[in-house]
Amino acid sequence: MLDRVKTLRKEFDDELSTTKELRLIEELRVKYLGRKAGLANELVKMIKDVPDEQKSNFGKEANILKVYIETVLDEHKKRLEESRRDSEKAFFDITLPGVKPLLGSFHPIELVRREIEDIFLRLGYSIAEGPEAETDWNNFEALNMPPHHPARDMQDTFYLENGSVLRTHTSPVQIRTMLSKKPPIRIICPGRTFRCDWDITHTPNFYQVEGLMIDVGVSLADMKGTIDYFCRQLFSTEIITRLRPSYFPFVEPGAEVDIQCQICKGKGCRTCKNAGWLEIMGAGMVHVNVLENVGIDSEIYTGFAFGMGMDRIAMLKFGIEDTRANYEGNLRFIEQFRGLE
Ligand code: FA5
Repeated sequence: MLDRVKTLRKEFDDELSTTKELRLIEELRVKYLGRKAGLANELVKMIKDVPDEQKSNFGKEANILKVYIETVLDEHKKRLEESRRDSEKAFFDITLPGVKPLLGSFHPIELVRREIEDIFLRLGYSIAEGPEAETDWNNFEALNMPPHHPARDMQDTFYLENGSVLRTHTSPVQIRTMLSKKPPIRIICPGRTFRCDWDITHTPNFYQVEGLMIDVGVSLADMKGTIDYFCRQLFSTEIITRLRPSYFPFVEPGAEVDIQCQICKGKGCRTCKNAGWLEIMGAGMVHVNVLENVGIDSEIYTGFAFGMGMDRIAMLKFGIEDTRANYEGNLRFIEQFRGLE
């Protein structure tokens, strides 16, 4: 009877060694361990028919064989599963479409900055920069806004503990430049600015670009010509601009520059809030007091300056309705500007 156990084990080993499919493993399991007619189970059932003196030995060997078959089948199954996983990983189907790498895009304000810089670089201007934390003198006083000047209220300011301010505009860069360079001066100063504001067209952190030209004989006509050229380059060659008298303490005369609304051509619509015009920047002839504050002889030199919010330009150029979207870090918003660089 013990020979029967040995033969069955050999049969099982031979069959298993040629089994390479998971499905066949399960067939072997049924063949040897199946409840009804499994060969190893049949062997166990035969214990009762074995002569008494052989019962114990045969029973032991029959049960050892059963456990052996169970264990070996499980191990073999595990090995086949692992090798199937490995071969799936190694398989590379060249006919499948590739995974496109995610392309970045420039932020709309960065797009605007680059375009503005390009226009003025072509006109012979250079780019000047200054610190974001400024002295009160550079940000206000030198610009003809002494302490307690009511115009300071127009720029809701973040004051720092050491007495300096987060610059409320990029105009202090014109002061720094005029202090460090002799005319002729032709610069633009793009940069980050701060005011305590929060609504659909205002944020506490925003970006401005200032322009400054100082030379002998610079007139209001030069200013108008430069701004016209700039607007035609930035928006469209059809654009019409107008100067509307306004007040900034650091220029005299001062003006707001409007462009005619491109959507309604001046008739009035939702975009221009029925005005027919869209305000894009402040501008004017540099105030005599400012020239004197930085040691430039106002009898010899004159100049103009202008300043605009790049966030506002981005809103107008790209139809952004709420400027706060510029600062939310939402990739779906930024992705809309892909390919515009
Ligand atoms: C000024 O800051 C002047 N320095 C501009 C200037 C320069 C005038 C040279 C004359 C000569 P104003 O406060 O209007 O001006 O700001 C200019 C632009 O900055 C505004 O038209 C607006 O587009 C933008 N701006 C101001 N505050 C905010 C804000 N909180 N969020 C977004 N944009 C703002």
